Amino acid sequence: MTTRIAVIGVGSIATQHLISYQKNPQAELVAVCDIDQTRAKAQADKFGVPKATDVVDEILSDPGIDAVSICVPNFLHAKFAEAALRAGKDVLVEKPMSVNVAEAEALVQATKETGQALQIGYVRRFAPNALVTKRFLDEGEFGDIYAARATIIRAAGNPGGWFGDVAVSGGGPLIDLGVHIIDLCWYLMGMPAPVSVSGATFSPLGARDNIKHLTRYRAASETRVNNVEDYATAQIRFENGAVLDVDTSYSLHARNSTSVKIHGDKGGAEIEPELLMITERHDTLVHIQPQIDSLGFDFTVGFANQIDHFLQICRREIPADATAEHGLEMARMLTAIYESARNGSEVTIAR
Ligand SMILES: NC(=O)c1ccc[n+]([C@@H]2O[C@H](COP(=O)([O-])OP(=O)(O)OC[C@H]3O[C@@H](n4cnc5c(N)ncnc54)[C@H](O)[C@@H]3O)[C@@H](O)[C@H]2O)c1
Repeated sequence: MTTRIAVIGVGSIATQHLISYQKNPQAELVAVCDIDQTRAKAQADKFGVPKATDVVDEILSDPGIDAVSICVPNFLHAKFAEAALRAGKDVLVEKPMSVNVAEAEALVQATKETGQALQIGYVRRFAPNALVTKRFLDEGEFGDIYAARATIIRAAGNPGGWFGDVAVSGGGPLIDLGVHIIDLCWYLMGMPAPVSVSGATFSPLGARDNIKHLTRYRAASETRVNNVEDYATAQIRFENGAVLDVDTSYSLHARNSTSVKIHGDKGGAEIEPELLMITERHDTLVHIQPQIDSLGFDFTVGFANQIDHFLQICRREIPADATAEHGLEMARMLTAIYESARNGSEVTIAR
């Protein structure tokens, strides 16, 4: 059975969605939509998609479309996702699912009322380094995970465009990059309920547009606004006593680095930058390095796996497993971190 797909918002990351759908014989790309009609047409031509429109309602009211990928700026995610669910479409929504808790609650409600599937684009869960870690974890190799630590530091990596405008993005590196690694750790920790956070944000450097001779990820449309944080750091406490420490930046006097680590009572794992498992055997510390194609985060394979998985969800072979409920817990954590940073004190997560 083929799933008829439309991609809404066809800027930078949508290209990965389009490539991955195109590779899967059980997907049929039937439409793209973008407020930038030229971009919509260009992507439709490039990927051989029959329809290009700048009107989202044309996609939602089309009975010939089963499912949508939503790849627009963050503040539109929840609005478009809810409209798509209520129009009878299954939804793959890019991260973050929403920019606040109220929107996330509305999406939980909408999935319950419609029975449609919503999957969040947590691509890092689908890269081989994470899949292998999860398999070992499920087999009990690490025991209970009680601590995790995750970092994505960019020295000069503000993507510009809408990413810098808090009204459109909902925040800076925390909501853009932090969301990936918070989710990955939280998922591997068994998704315990977050109970409190202590966070801080800093913005002394700005977007660092003065930096020359350095290529960086750029949003499709340029704007000059930058009112998001440069750097965010936080500790999240969970109901089972576990803690997650996270820090992330667009701008920081530091070397670029990515690191994701989980620590359990039987073993630990460094998932990024390179998969390595650490344990003890017979009174000896032991490192286990799986022999897989890519020990780091393989973006292309992760995307292809994510899209293949979403298509299985659309065919009802498996249930959605990066759900609106997961997006709601994430919204609670991110909102509390920003609140804690503003207040300068720990914030208890109400539920
Ligand atoms: N999973 C990942 O690794 C990853 C990486 C980058 C971005 N993202 C996410 O993907 C989303 C898009 O990011 P991007 O970098 O592609 O941004 P982008 O600016 O390159 O693309 C966004 C597109 O949405 C279009 N758009 C804006 N408003 C619209 C509307 N009302 N209706 C239709 N189209 C509209 C824009 O014209 C643009 O083409 C963001 O939510 C971002 O967080 C995810």
